[in-house]
Amino acid sequence: MSLLDNIFNGPGYSVEDIQNMDIFENLRKTFIKKMGFNYDKDTINNIREKMANLSKVEINQAMVSLLSFHEASEKMINACQNIVNELSGNEILIQRRANTIFNVPGKDERRQWPHYELMSGISPHTFVIWAPFHDLDDNGGVYYVKQDQSYEIIKKEETKGLVNGPDILNMMNDHAPLKLKYGQVVVFNPFILHGNVEFNSSKARIACSVRFQSKNKPLMQKNSDFFKLYKTN
Ligand SMILES: [Fe+2]
Repeated sequence: MSLLDNIFNGPGYSVEDIQNMDIFENLRKTFIKKMGFNYDKDTINNIREKMANLSKVEINQAMVSLLSFHEASEKMINACQNIVNELSGNEILIQRRANTIFNVPGKDERRQWPHYELMSGISPHTFVIWAPFHDLDDNGGVYYVKQDQSYEIIKKEETKGLVNGPDILNMMNDHAPLKLKYGQVVVFNPFILHGNVEFNSSKARIACSVRFQSKNKPLMQKNSDFFKLYKTN
């Protein structure tokens, strides 16, 4: 199925190859240096092991040091320009600050609870690109619930007057995360339920995500605090 078919008529998400790996590699390198690691000396797996052993305070500090990385969002968009253009054209609104997400193995760690993006006030025309910085060979990735199933769960909750109530929160461990290779991304629409599961590994998972939509489509709660105008080639 084509990207458009997957996003609109099929599962609502699609695994795609990164078009420009030079840009993505540069993005990963900058991230890792800003987090205080030695990119040229350490392998990505060494870095992931070191990250798995950081304290919560150290992880927070690494995240604060990433706040100055303003170009991350544009680099993500440029690395995946074909995807962005196909879904939203070349005059777009992009998230000002791409998110870096660390997922640390073990119990009681930071989790992405099951959710769908629309809940955070983005419009139905906004899409997400999510990219890991390494192969996902354990269960540290993200699971995605197919569009028809996601709708069914969301509608069921709505009849109870709930958003992200127990039906969604309790499905946390029912799904298997996608196993992506470095160089692949998941693109998904804002109705797709997704989240993490608890996983065992010696290594943390590092990923980056960015949101975008056509500048000609209406916004919802998110405005220019969240998005900036951008034009791809
Ligand atoms: Fe999300």
